[in-house]
Amino acid sequence: MNKKLNAAEGAYNKILNICSGDIVIGIGTGSTTDIFTQTFLPKLKNRITKIYSSSHRSTKLLDSLGFAVVESLPTTQCIDIYVDGADEIDIDLNLIKGGGGAHYREKMLTKASSYFLCIADDSKRVNALGAFGIPVEIRAERLDFVKKELLGHFPEFSQRDALSDNGNVLADLRGKILEEPIKFEKIVNGIEGVVEVGIFAVDRPNLAIIGLENGYELMESSMA
Ligand code: A5P
Repeated sequence: MNKKLNAAEGAYNKILNICSGDIVIGIGTGSTTDIFTQTFLPKLKNRITKIYSSSHRSTKLLDSLGFAVVESLPTTQCIDIYVDGADEIDIDLNLIKGGGGAHYREKMLTKASSYFLCIADDSKRVNALGAFGIPVEIRAERLDFVKKELLGHFPEFSQRDALSDNGNVLADLRGKILEEPIKFEKIVNGIEGVVEVGIFAVDRPNLAIIGLENGYELMESSMA
């Protein structure tokens, strides 16, 4: 809990540092993002002009705090800063996301943002992505086809009971460590019927803030 709070505080400090004036913000999904929303977003309230939410869960929390959320997804790159958690982070800031099944909307918001700030505790750091599993959102009518295609690349495919906020099937791929996350993001998203994969390598964060027991540290990509 402390580590997540520390990561959230790091995000707040970074926002104060890089955003002057009004802010259009995007809010991700998960327990770390919830802490940021509850503890630090109210401090920015009079500067926020618009909020985009990545899930029903986050919208509910934002509503309860008196923030008016824009219902639709942005059609232009209009978000100043997007704050979201992760399930795994590698040294190049490639991420696995979608543990909460919200990765489709999360990815749409990252694409519409000038700055993507990832917040996570230090347990999320890995040498290579994959052990957590790789979430995939799939259109139900293409499930059999997509499953067969995905099993050509990954040893295990398990379907979740819950559907996504969009009413699509959620599944997790397991049994493979990703040596080339960008390549796999493109391969999985290239399968007809896949709505979105939870690999965030093409759209990596600008910065990850890692919450530690005492304080936080900044993690910038080692890639040029
Ligand atoms: C939601 O779909 C995920 O992408 C979350 O960002 C991720 O599961 C992180 O959640 P926690 O902050 O609860 O670990």
